[in-house]
Amino acid sequence: MKEYPSTLVDMYEALPIPFGLVRYGVAPDHPEVKNVQNRFEEVANDSRYTFIGNVKYGEDLTLKDLKSQYDAIVFSYGASQEKSLGIKNENEYIKNIFSARAFVVIGQGNVALDVSRILLMDIVELSKTDITEYALEKLRNNRIKNVIIVGRRGPLQVSFTAKELREMINLPNTKFHTDSELLKNELSTNIEIISKDRPLKRLMQILEKGMYHTSGYKSWSLKFLRSPHEFIAHENDDPSRPKYVRAVRFQINRLEGPLENRVAVPTGEMEEIETGLVLKSVGYRSIPLEGLPFDENKGIVPNYKGKILDNDNNEQPGLYVAGWLKRGPQGVIATTMNDAYETAEVIVSDIKQNKSMLSTDTFNATKQGSKAIIPILHQRGIRTVSYEDWKKIEERENEAGRAKNKPREKFGRVEDAMRVLDT
Ligand SMILES: Cc1cc2nc3c(=O)[nH]c(=O)nc-3n(C[C@H](O)[C@H](O)[C@H](O)COP(=O)(O)OP(=O)(O)OC[C@H]3O[C@@H](n4cnc5c(N)ncnc54)[C@H](O)[C@@H]3O)c2cc1C
Ligand SMILES: NC(=O)c1ccc[n+]([C@@H]2O[C@H](COP(=O)([O-])OP(=O)(O)OC[C@H]3O[C@@H](n4cnc5c(N)ncnc54)[C@H](OP(=O)(O)O)[C@@H]3O)[C@@H](O)[C@H]2O)c1
Repeated sequence: MKEYPSTLVDMYEALPIPFGLVRYGVAPDHPEVKNVQNRFEEVANDSRYTFIGNVKYGEDLTLKDLKSQYDAIVFSYGASQEKSLGIKNENEYIKNIFSARAFVVIGQGNVALDVSRILLMDIVELSKTDITEYALEKLRNNRIKNVIIVGRRGPLQVSFTAKELREMINLPNTKFHTDSELLKNELSTNIEIISKDRPLKRLMQILEKGMYHTSGYKSWSLKFLRSPHEFIAHENDDPSRPKYVRAVRFQINRLEGPLENRVAVPTGEMEEIETGLVLKSVGYRSIPLEGLPFDENKGIVPNYKGKILDNDNNEQPGLYVAGWLKRGPQGVIATTMNDAYETAEVIVSDIKQNKSMLSTDTFNATKQGSKAIIPILHQRGIRTVSYEDWKKIEERENEAGRAKNKPREKFGRVEDAMRVLDT
């Protein structure tokens, strides 16, 4: 819109609510991260921008519909699928049981630390955030005392970052435990490499210092060199009753290969960790949607700097990709924004070079966009949500939040958000 002031931009979103993971991924006690929403608000208030919520690409809308009404399309529907472990009983026991005192988290990324921090945090502090009331209620009644975060590789291969580790270490009334022998050994044998890698050095310093946090009635620990092998259920002969997880069996690993490419190799030994609740936090995956090429190995839409490529590496006129769908489920919001700027620059450059856009002729801005698409969606029985509609939903959330002394009380279900628009 900056480069070509006559450009119109329409944004289709599956939910009646914008903001993606900034709203439902970023932890409630990190409100400053959500400030990026204000930046979006500026764009949304521009008369050349239209938000069309509650529309699922691939179900409500096809590539053919869009192609006929736009010069260019950017796909940025994220990575909505959780990666699976592919181990025995994985799907049988993934239930929302919230009765356990001990909690096993599989994976050692920032999501694992965010979830663990929320579980161990002071409930009064948490109640001042925009965490939903139903989550807060569960946490109030079932305080978790002990969280074990298990990784398949070693301390130098953790995927979380310094700020998030420091927040965990500094949790009040919470002691920290890890395999200090392994940590010391890894630090001393790799001292030269660590000293040249500043973020890693900082992370390791925080970890080392953390070993002195040995008092508190709650605890968390980092366990290394353990790959999940099987979920084990409580004995239960009654098939009509649900089975609950009792333990996770892990394969014990050793590390092999150079530091920049360390792999976990099974030693053949096993270990069981008793737990009533397991959370898999091993990353995400994008899914292929209608009309788009997809690289199954990388889990992304193949592209060059955001321009979609077909299976023979040919550029697809007018089709672009951004965000996790473009580069995989890695990186913070700033990374995702920079990467979106790159895609925007490629679009501008294509227009400047008179490259073919979606119509076979060059960029001409004669298509109708959402003016033509919205009536089609209505004919298909879809209640589209405009930005003004979203603001009504937001106002209801803010109102409910004020009553509870928190920034907002978020709707957790699409039906509840949509009901606001009926009144
Ligand atoms: C749990 C979690 C916590 C995080 N916390 C932080 C943090 O504290 N700080 C930080 O910097 N980064 C954080 N990140 C990373 C950050 O959220 C991502 O870098 C960023 O959100 C990725 O942006 P995206 O646009 O690719 O995907 P998303 O943010 O997921 O946006 C994709 C959008 O597409 C919509 N969509 C999906 N399918 C369809 C469809 N078929 N049709 C139409 N719309 C569709 C979705 O509803 C969503 O709104 C976190 C990530 C996770 C998973
Ligand atoms: N506060 C924040 O800034 C914040 C918060 C949340 C998320 N984010 C960002 O969002 C992105 C996604 O985060 P994430 O935590 O979901 O993913 P991640 O950083 O990719 O971490 C995934 C973890 O799961 C492990 N894992 C993967 N497959 C496994 C398997 N089959 N068995 C056992 N362990 C397995 C990985 O270990 P290996 O290394 O061995 O594969 C890694 O420890 C990251 O870039 C993250 O920084 C940022």
